[in-house]
Amino acid sequence: MSTLPSLAGRHIVLGLSGGIACYKSAELVRELGRAGATVQVVMTEAAQAFITPVTMQALSGRPVATSQWDAREPNNMAHINLSREADAILVAPASADFIAKLAQGRADELLSLLCLARPLERCPLLLAPAMNREMWAHPATRRNVAQVVADGATLFGPDAGDQACGETGDGRMLEAEDIRDELIAFFQPKLLAGRKVLITAGPTFEAIDPVRGITNLSSGKMGFAIARAAQEAGAEVTLVAGPVHLPTPRHVRRIDVQSAQQMHDAVLPLAPAQQVFVATAAVADWRPASLAEHKIKKESGRSVPAFELTENPDILAAVARLPQRPYCVGFAAESGDLVKHAREKRIRKNVPLLVGNLGPATFGRDDNTLLLVDEQGEREIATADKLSLARTLVREIANRLTS
Ligand code: C5P
Repeated sequence: MSTLPSLAGRHIVLGLSGGIACYKSAELVRELGRAGATVQVVMTEAAQAFITPVTMQALSGRPVATSQWDAREPNNMAHINLSREADAILVAPASADFIAKLAQGRADELLSLLCLARPLERCPLLLAPAMNREMWAHPATRRNVAQVVADGATLFGPDAGDQACGETGDGRMLEAEDIRDELIAFFQPKLLAGRKVLITAGPTFEAIDPVRGITNLSSGKMGFAIARAAQEAGAEVTLVAGPVHLPTPRHVRRIDVQSAQQMHDAVLPLAPAQQVFVATAAVADWRPASLAEHKIKKESGRSVPAFELTENPDILAAVARLPQRPYCVGFAAESGDLVKHAREKRIRKNVPLLVGNLGPATFGRDDNTLLLVDEQGEREIATADKLSLARTLVREIANRLTS
């Protein structure tokens, strides 16, 4: 089972410049470690006024580098050694002053020195700015940020929200897990750059009366993982979600719906402008023919209510029928005989790619096994966590778009 964490094998130099957001960097080290990265912390003098190297050493498991004059380095060139080993330099927090130094190419302490000394073509510089909103909005900072971006740096954030100074606005550093996810996404190959991808996910809820309805056990996890993987691959992603309790993947546009009809009405107008449509939603095939205006009461002597059902629109089939249709990927959740059902479903839905999985084995779980069925035949994607599977599926889709 391939469950390597997303940053396995990556070595990150995490730089801290001075700012109250340094407290979040402690958590960030943990998050990067949990995601499989090794982390070498470098701190400026100002950063050490906010959090101690002792804390950062304990969390990263390595002595923190704080000085370009550190005589322990055999060649006395910490700035060269550190950047040559790194897959990326991530500065979090990146203060207004530190960004100003980078913009000028100054190098009077270890962190700015190693940013300047890094091999541009293979060691990316990633900045998570953190400052008061007035500092972020100041023309000098705007100028400096534009310059460092033009020089090749990538910005993670900043966020808007409450600031330590008591004000509210732009300039707040992203949370540790958001920076971790930005970093993970940064390393993913941009196989869907410039493509628009539309995804349905989760169950639908077909109301019987104002408090009851017909639904199913789909958790939405597979569809949300595909949305995340497509976004990481550079796509512009819209996710139409039935009722689920899942956080929206970063930079994904989410539209919440309840019923199959609402999902259909959200999807159809968007579909012609997409390059890819992935229908992972477990859409109810039928809905009650009429919706009771008030709760249906259980009263003694009254007979058990009988429901007449009517058929829901088939969203995938409707998109596949569009004259200007995106590349359509269907899902089949079966309870057995997967190959046969998946093959039949691909033909019936008239889609180039159908992904089969066993419903009872996947609903609500974090891992899954997929069977890809296309014109050429079948291929199994071995059991893995849903995000790994989603990345594999995104690769398979991207290959089919270009071929
Ligand atoms: O026919 P069945 O429901 O098994 O087909 C499953 C595939 O069709 C999934 O991709 C599902 O999202 C899609 N579907 C749909 N609209 C429906 C029923 C299924 O888009 N009403």
